[in-house]
Amino acid sequence: QVLPLADRYGRVATDLRVSLTDRCNLRCSYCMPPEGLDWMPTEQVLTDDEVVRLVLVATERLGVQEVRFTGGEPLVRRGLVDIVGRVHAAAPEVEMSITTNALGLARTAGALAEAGLARVNVSLDSVRRETFHEITRRDRLEDVVAGLAAAEAAGLGPVKVNAVLLRGQNDDQACELLRWCVERGYELRFIEQMPLDAQHGWSREGMITADEILTGLQAEFALTPASEPRGSAPAELFTVDGGPATVGVIASVTRPFCGDCDRVRLTADGQVRNCLFARSESDLRAALRGGASDEEIAQRWVVAMHGKAAGHGIDDPTFLQPDRPMSAIGG
Ligand code: GTP
Ligand code: 5AD
Ligand code: SF4
Repeated sequence: QVLPLADRYGRVATDLRVSLTDRCNLRCSYCMPPEGLDWMPTEQVLTDDEVVRLVLVATERLGVQEVRFTGGEPLVRRGLVDIVGRVHAAAPEVEMSITTNALGLARTAGALAEAGLARVNVSLDSVRRETFHEITRRDRLEDVVAGLAAAEAAGLGPVKVNAVLLRGQNDDQACELLRWCVERGYELRFIEQMPLDAQHGWSREGMITADEILTGLQAEFALTPASEPRGSAPAELFTVDGGPATVGVIASVTRPFCGDCDRVRLTADGQVRNCLFARSESDLRAALRGGASDEEIAQRWVVAMHGKAAGHGIDDPTFLQPDRPMSAIGG
C-alpha cells in the first residue's frame, strides 16, 4: 500500500532527485568559487547501502516512479554504477537517469546503461573551447564532447543538453550551441539562472530571461511551440525549423512551474528537501542510523512534504536564498 508524498496544495511527488555528492570536477563560475567549497565530511555522506535503501523506500512505499541522480557531479561518486544496478535489480520499473557534466562519461556510459540507467542529461554551456574553459575554469570541452557521444552510443538517450546563458560570456552563442546539438541529435534546453550559487552573485537584472533567449534564437531559427503540454516538466518545448529537432526553455524564474511540481530531493547527507528553495530539511540519515524501520522512514518522509511552499518566491521582497548552494542540493 502506497503512502503518497502529497503536500498541502494537492501536489504529489513522484520524481525523486538524489544528490550523490557535493563535489565536482568543474568550477562553473555561476556555481562555485575557483577554490571549490568546504565539502561534506565523508562520515556525513550516505553510504551506497544507505542510498539504495532510501531510494527503495521511496519507490516501494511512497509512489516514486522516477529517480534522477545528481551532484555536485554524480560521476565522481565511486559507487554510482553499483547503486544504479542495485536499484534496477530491485525496482526494474523505475526510470533512472543522471544529470552530469559528462567528464569521464566516455568511460562509464556502457556500464551505466548495462546497470539499468535509462537516460542522461548533460550540462554544456558552450562548444567553444575558450568559452568552455572560461566558464568552467577547466579546459575539458573535449571530454564532454566524447562523453556525449558515448552516452548516445550506449543508448542513454534521448540525450538532453542543459545550458545556462551568462551575460557577456556565452549569451552570443545560443544559436551556435543549438546548431551543434541539432546536428548531433541532442535535445538542447536553455535554463534561466536561479539564485542558487555559492557566491550569492545572482541578480534578477543580470540573468538572461527566457524571452531574451527565444528572441535570440529566432534570429536564425523558426521556432514553433510544440503541441504537448508542459505538465510537470520544467521545459517548454519548441520545434526547430519544422522539426523533428526541438529546443527547450526552462524558465524557472520568469515562468515558474511550481504549481505543477512533482519533485522531492534527497541530499548526499541524507536530508529530504521538499523544494530546491526549501528553508528547512528533514533528517533521514539520523533516522536511518538510529535504527528506524522502513515504515518509520516512510512516515517521516511523508511529514517532510507537509511544509512544502506553494512556490519559490524568487520575486518576493522577502526572498532568501537557501542555505545550501545548488551543488549541495542537486540540480
Ligand atoms: P527530464 O526532463 O526528465 O530529462 O529532466 P529535467 O529537465 O527535470 O532534469 P535536469 O536535471 O536536466 O534539470 C534541468 C534544470 O531544470 C536544472 O538544472 C534546474 O535548473 C531546473 N530544475 C530541475 N528541477 C527543478 C525544480 O524543481 N525547480 C526549479 N525551479 N528548477 C528545476
Ligand atoms: N541556475 C540554474 N541552473 C543551474 N545549474 C547550476 N547552477 C544553476 C543555477 N544557479 C545547472 C547546471 C546543470 C544543472 C545541474 O543545473 O548548469 O545543467
Ligand atoms: Fe559542477 Fe554542476 Fe556546479 Fe558546474 S554547475 S560546478 S558542473 S556542480
